[in-house]
Amino acid sequence: MNDSLSSPRKRGAASGNLAAEGDVNLSPLRRAWEAEHLHESTRKLLDADSRHYLHQSLSTPCLNALAACEGIWLTDVEGRRIMDFHGNNVHQVGYRHPHVIEAVKRQLDTLPFSPRRYTNAMAVALAERLSTLAPQPLSKVLFAPGGALAIGMALKLARAATGRHKTVSLWDSFHGASLDAISIGGEALFRRDAGPLLPGTEHAPPCDPAACVFHCGSACNLRCAEYIEYILDHEEDVGAVVIETIRCTDVQIPPPEYYRIIRRACDRHGTLLIFDEIPICLGRTGSIFAFENYDVVPDMVVLGKGLGGGVFPMAALIARGDLDVAADRALGHYTHEKSSVGCAAAMATLDVIENDGLLERSRALGAHALERLREIKRHHPLVAEVRGIGLLLGIELRRDGRPAAQEAERVMYHCLDRGLSFKVGQGNVLNLSPPLIIQQRELDDALAIIDAALSEVEAASAAR
Ligand SMILES: Cc1ncc(COP(=O)(O)O)c(C=O)c1O
Repeated sequence: MNDSLSSPRKRGAASGNLAAEGDVNLSPLRRAWEAEHLHESTRKLLDADSRHYLHQSLSTPCLNALAACEGIWLTDVEGRRIMDFHGNNVHQVGYRHPHVIEAVKRQLDTLPFSPRRYTNAMAVALAERLSTLAPQPLSKVLFAPGGALAIGMALKLARAATGRHKTVSLWDSFHGASLDAISIGGEALFRRDAGPLLPGTEHAPPCDPAACVFHCGSACNLRCAEYIEYILDHEEDVGAVVIETIRCTDVQIPPPEYYRIIRRACDRHGTLLIFDEIPICLGRTGSIFAFENYDVVPDMVVLGKGLGGGVFPMAALIARGDLDVAADRALGHYTHEKSSVGCAAAMATLDVIENDGLLERSRALGAHALERLREIKRHHPLVAEVRGIGLLLGIELRRDGRPAAQEAERVMYHCLDRGLSFKVGQGNVLNLSPPLIIQQRELDDALAIIDAALSEVEAASAAR
């Protein structure tokens, strides 16, 4: 999985890193890109968007305006086609997959909404399917119209089931933008100046060799897992440990022993282990659940994003059957809790993943891409490390041992010029999340674009 690091390197003030979850929208490079590439018609739309929407970092003001999307492609209002290796991770099956669109249209024509006191056949079928796909004892589900909401349900259920409110989660993690989710999240951009957060939300250092406070150097030395064990041993009343199984933003892939240590510690203390797989579920890492890459089963797992097939906001909490202990409380109670349309989109998405062999495809194309990235690393001094699992790939850029955030942003804009979009995670990691339906030829084209962009940025840096 991970290429080894040549030396221990610090990300710097990790939790003070404001360019975290994705690339921010206020940079001079962003403005320069827009000035060079956008025509008056797009500018008008962006200005109107900016006038009507509340501004926030990471979205409004927006970069560009879209007219259409299909497969791996976005089309902007000026007709430019852009390969989407970002897609907010909703596009495992690509955009407008005919099977998904047909299922949604069918549902719209029959039962577009299901008021809360009723169930519907699609909602029952999806619950049954997810609990069949999940390993035992994960067998009961609850849906929500968004990942942060599903995380909130998991936190409430953990409190109800354990009678404890404390949690342990990781610095630099992201679990959504709501107040409960940023309380367990670890990104300064979301937490800074947010006011009082949930009490009892303790944080531990993430498994991130490049920024490891335990100086693990070339690979994880498991001190980060042992530290979580240490907290559970000392606190004794922690209700849940909440972790992104594999951190999506900058593709951090813990070693197998990491989760064995944490699972054992949770079991010893009656603490629930909750995996957040919202952006990485359904094939991104080569398996339906990312934790299948590890010899561990959580007490709850949260899915989202691509579950709605790139159409509908859908998230799911799947919990151990015996955690069905909150019948007298409201865990979710969301208006679109059993959305017939969302469930139809999810069922069709699962069909596509199964019928089109997207898990195998993710593994095979991911291995191919990682091999290409290793070659790219060999002739680009800016590339400190490449990482990948399935079609979740990361390219970490460093200059003189320090995070190369400026360069990462430049590479991203060079790639956008050439019709490739991806996100920059944690400031200096190019995050590549292509749709799993991508052809190898298209993947190779995208990697060639990145290769060329790195060359241009390195040449420009050398000339400066
Ligand atoms: C790991 C992780 N958890 C939770 C969320 C929140 O999901 P949503 O945006 O659907 O609320 C995200 C979204 O990016 C995420 O990446």
